[in-house]
Formats: sequence, structure tokens, C-alpha cells
Amino acid sequence: MIIAIDGPAASGKGTIARRLAAHFNLPHLDTGLLYRATARALMEAGERLDDEACAVQAARGLALTDFDEDKLRGREMGEAASVVGAIPAVRAALLDMQRSFAHRDGGAVLDGRDIGTVICPDASVKIFVTANPETRANRRALELKGRGEKVDFAAVLDDIRKRDERDSHRSSAPLVAAADAIHLDTSHLDVEAAVKAAITIAESKR
Ligand code: CDP
Repeated sequence: MIIAIDGPAASGKGTIARRLAAHFNLPHLDTGLLYRATARALMEAGERLDDEACAVQAARGLALTDFDEDKLRGREMGEAASVVGAIPAVRAALLDMQRSFAHRDGGAVLDGRDIGTVICPDASVKIFVTANPETRANRRALELKGRGEKVDFAAVLDDIRKRDERDSHRSSAPLVAAADAIHLDTSHLDVEAAVKAAITIAESKR
């Protein structure tokens, strides 16, 4: 069973994907980490984020096991990931890695922006997770505070709106719900309620 979870920043898709993976005993890939790690590699090499050749090389050099999540989860990395994620050649370089992860025996859970539309259009379960921007900014601000970052709510909300805009309007694999995805609005759900709703959706599609 392949479970595809897509949605905008801080919608709750990562938590839902992790919990679904534990529930169904499936491996989980947070595909955002691939874009974040690509951006980080460029920054560490002193290259520009929009340098296509360097970005493709960085994407091709990634291994799924070497993510230092602590370094990749910061506020600036989400923004940087969104810049490299808008380069079609970077997306192409990361495609096979994601597809082979998804198509391993027994299935997998992947979360991102284009899993149900581009990476796994054949996924048996597709959930598009949303929440209003203010709720998402609140969640992200709490998460960043928990990481010890100094946060300004207005700036986090601004980041979320900018990222929604860039992710939804890029030419390659924009953030959009697959026609056969089930929408799950988590604006008024706590984690347990959102996870429960996602499990019910997945069970019904199995
Ligand atoms: O948790 P959050 O949604 O903020 O971040 P993420 O899922 O790690 O994604 C960071 C950025 O990577 C997004 O804003 C997208 O631009 C890009 N991304 C993408 O283009 N395609 C994916 N499958 C996953 C992430």
C-alpha cells in the first residue's frame, strides 16, 4: 500500500504521515528533507540557490540516510528548499529516488507537495492535508520555539504565505491536490483527531 500525503507548509502532513507509517508498519519518507538537504548542500558550498547545475549536482549526491534533521528544520531552510524545489531539473533529479522508495515491497508512506500527483499517481491512498494560514503559522511558530529559535509570529505567517504562493504557482509539479485525493482540513483538529481521521481514510481505501 502506498500512502501519499500532500499539503502546504505546517498543515500537519508530516505528523500525520509519521503516525500513519507507525500504524500500518510502513517506512516513511519526508520528501521535504530532500529539498531542504539540497538547499543546505548549496549553502555549505557557497553556491547560489538558483544555480541549476550546482543544485542538480547537489540533489544527485543525496543519500536518503544522511539527513541531519536538526540542521534542516530551521526557518530559513524551509524557504531555501522552496527556492530549489521550484527548479524543474532538481525535481527530475530527485524523482527516481522517491519512486523507488515508494515502490518497495509492502508499500510506504511519503509526504510532500507532489506525491499524489507526480511521484505516485498510482498511490492507493491520497490525502491532501490543509489548514488555514494562521493556524499553520501558529503551529510552525511553536515548533520553531521548541527548537530554540527566536520567532516573530508575523514573520512566520509571512513565510507561510510566500511559500504557499511559490509552491502553488511554480511551473513544475505545483502544490495541488490530486483529483482523487481526500481533503483533510486540520484547522480545528488536534493531533490525535487529525491522525484518527487520516487512519479512517486510509482504512477505507485499503
Ligand atoms: O514542513 P514544511 O511543509 O514547511 O516543509 P517541507 O515539507 O520540508 O518542504 C519545504 C519546501 O520544500 C516546500 O515549501 C516546497 O517548496 C519543497 N518541497 C517540494 O517542492 N516538494 C516536495 N515533495 C516536498 C517539499
